[in-house]
Amino acid sequence: MPLLPPDDTSLTRAAEQLNNGGLVAFPTETVYGLGGDATNPTAVAAIFEAKARPTFNPLIVHVKDLSAAEALGVFDATARTIARTFWPGPLSIVVPRQKNGAVCDLACAGGDTVALRVPAHPVAQALLEKADLPLAAPSANPSGRLSPTTAQHVAEGFPGSDILIVDGGPCPLGLESTVVACTADGAVRLLRNGAVSREDLARHVGNIDDATEPDGDTLPSPGMLARHYAPRIPLRLDAQTVEPDEALLAFGPNGPAGATMTLNLSTTGDLKEAAANLFAMLHELEQSGARRIAAMPVPEGGLGRAINDRLRRGAAASVCQTGDLA
Ligand code: TXA
Ligand code: MG
Repeated sequence: MPLLPPDDTSLTRAAEQLNNGGLVAFPTETVYGLGGDATNPTAVAAIFEAKARPTFNPLIVHVKDLSAAEALGVFDATARTIARTFWPGPLSIVVPRQKNGAVCDLACAGGDTVALRVPAHPVAQALLEKADLPLAAPSANPSGRLSPTTAQHVAEGFPGSDILIVDGGPCPLGLESTVVACTADGAVRLLRNGAVSREDLARHVGNIDDATEPDGDTLPSPGMLARHYAPRIPLRLDAQTVEPDEALLAFGPNGPAGATMTLNLSTTGDLKEAAANLFAMLHELEQSGARRIAAMPVPEGGLGRAINDRLRRGAAASVCQTGDLA
């Protein structure tokens, strides 16, 4: 897995890899990010797969400036003030997704908000410029490990993978970005403490809601709340058969026939393809006019864990049965 110097030739290669759906680890002023094309659900599925995250947390989408951010998210006056004050810099702002914005459902974990950040690091800026894409990038560490602040940390975390790593030296801040949510009319909620202090924020924003302990670490973001995962119609798990008024979320080559609408996560049983399709297919099925969604079983291995986590939350939130009805 090559470490590349941050020169023009390497950045061109990295930008090509990103445009082809591949992954590139790159430095930001906070920590190294594991970047992929935020508009490409297969690339975003590859990020979750590489990190082996047990759930689909929403990812921070990196863009080159505020106007690129406004194409993807809806900024009210407060969000714009925060962006103008702290960008480029170590602050991520969660805002409602722009209707028809280009960020894929999986990057937002199926939710209706998106976390956006304009990083200040010159290598991150150069890569965003060359790739000309919004980049979804969580910290470039396997799930449960420390965030990487050098290219060597990244390389140690993903031995033998084909992720390209752009080596920009040690990250100057070494602490993740602060995450704030500006999703409800002027209110600002602190979702994660980070490199921009609460005091700094408070100087520019009238009132900060304490969604967290002032000294807290990462907290469950709104994306992780059970109700966020509820489809608008009931969801039935482990379906082997289907009722005529159900919409079927199939997996693998042998789905039952007869549903109102059938969408197949992956006819070949490919979990990465299934992850890439999951949220968009659930959205389509819940609008099909069916009374309920029946989901076929998905194996637990690899990305299957995160897919099943999402389906179970959806089923629990929508109060439904498991298995086939008598
Ligand atoms: O400094 C950083 O923020 C690094 C660099 C690479 O930018 N990235 C990073 O990403 O730390 P990650 O995925 O490890 O942490 C993202 C945090 C998580 O706590 C996640 O739940 C929250 O941001 N988040 C992302 N999108 C969100 C959303 N739509 N709503 C609420 N929280 C969100
Ligand atoms: Mg992280």
